[in-house]
Amino acid sequence: MRVALLPGDGIGPEVAAAASQVLRELPLDLELEEHPFGGAAIRVTGDPLPPETLAAARAADAVLLGAVGAPEFDGAPVRPEQGLIRLRGELDVYANLRPARADHVDLLVVRELVGGLYYGARGVRDDGTVFDTMEYRPDQIERIARRGLELATTRRGHVTSVDKANVLDTSRLWRATVERLAPDYPGVTVEHMLVDNCGLQLVIAPERFDVILTENTFGDILSDVAAGRTGGLGLAGSASLGDGRPGIFEPVHGSAPDIAGRGIANPAAMLRSAALMLAHGLGEPDLGARLETAVDGALATAPTPDLGGRATTTEFVEAVLRELRP
Ligand code: NAD
Ligand code: IPM
Ligand code: MN
Repeated sequence: MRVALLPGDGIGPEVAAAASQVLRELPLDLELEEHPFGGAAIRVTGDPLPPETLAAARAADAVLLGAVGAPEFDGAPVRPEQGLIRLRGELDVYANLRPARADHVDLLVVRELVGGLYYGARGVRDDGTVFDTMEYRPDQIERIARRGLELATTRRGHVTSVDKANVLDTSRLWRATVERLAPDYPGVTVEHMLVDNCGLQLVIAPERFDVILTENTFGDILSDVAAGRTGGLGLAGSASLGDGRPGIFEPVHGSAPDIAGRGIANPAAMLRSAALMLAHGLGEPDLGARLETAVDGALATAPTPDLGGRATTTEFVEAVLRELRP
């Protein structure tokens, strides 16, 4: 099996190294090949997603990605984040699964990933007005809605579809589409919630959610809130899936410039993304579960500073490797 590893920027390379060290210890015939991406690729080639990297990603069974973004590119015409958005679009990974678990909370944000504001028409008018537009085609909503409803059948069977239907036409299409498809999933109950209220409910009562199904921008924001309520960004992994391979597996967090280079990044989010890759991307659910359990064990014995502990990234990885040994 071939995995394209795209370390990226900031703590990206630090957590990517952690993942590659752990993956090499698993009983799995895996080829891990690194490729330049994000700001690191801009510095060398001027392009955050060089053609060689895109070709390698397409040819791989899965893409494992650290993080992109660096302060030096903020406001620049070519930015690392553009590479990530293009890669998601090129691989058409429309379903971004962002699980959040802690104590009594066990929810899954299912975020539409290749539509909406991130991909709509944008520009500048003669009078200086700048615009980004939220656009959704019916079939784009239909496929993510089906994915969310299907995922709910493997969980507690409850979907909260989140929109802003009191204001936005795209949201009214979203809500009507979910309503139309829901009867195809008789075991699943569906409720609709406005996004502002969903932000509130995630903070005050996150245990009420099973699957949160929502569009791109809302899902970006709500998944950080969900992470904040379940241990922080250092713990939050994700899987971005299309209809076939390769999927992209990446932490919810960014390049964390404030702690980059200090060896204290929590690699749990990246390792959980690697576990999601084993389960959802490479057809190795048992190995994925083993890695998940090992990460949980390491979180108890070797917490990093973001969790109030003192372990370094390296010490966390050593704890995971100890947990993995029979
Ligand atoms: P961020 O997620 O990088 O960091 C937010 C806060 O969480 C920071 O205080 C950071 O130190 C902390 N944090 C994040 N991951 C951590 C980890 N693994 N261990 C310990 N602490 C962690 O968000 P930001 O600061 O808003 O963005 C920084 C850069 O990252 C920007 O350029 C942004 O565009 C980019 N970004 C990239 C991705 C991605 O690659 N998928 C996601 C989000 C942000
Ligand atoms: C994320 C990030 C990205 C997003 C950025 C870096 C483009 O915030 O993966 O959550 O907004 O999707
Ligand atoms: Mn985000």
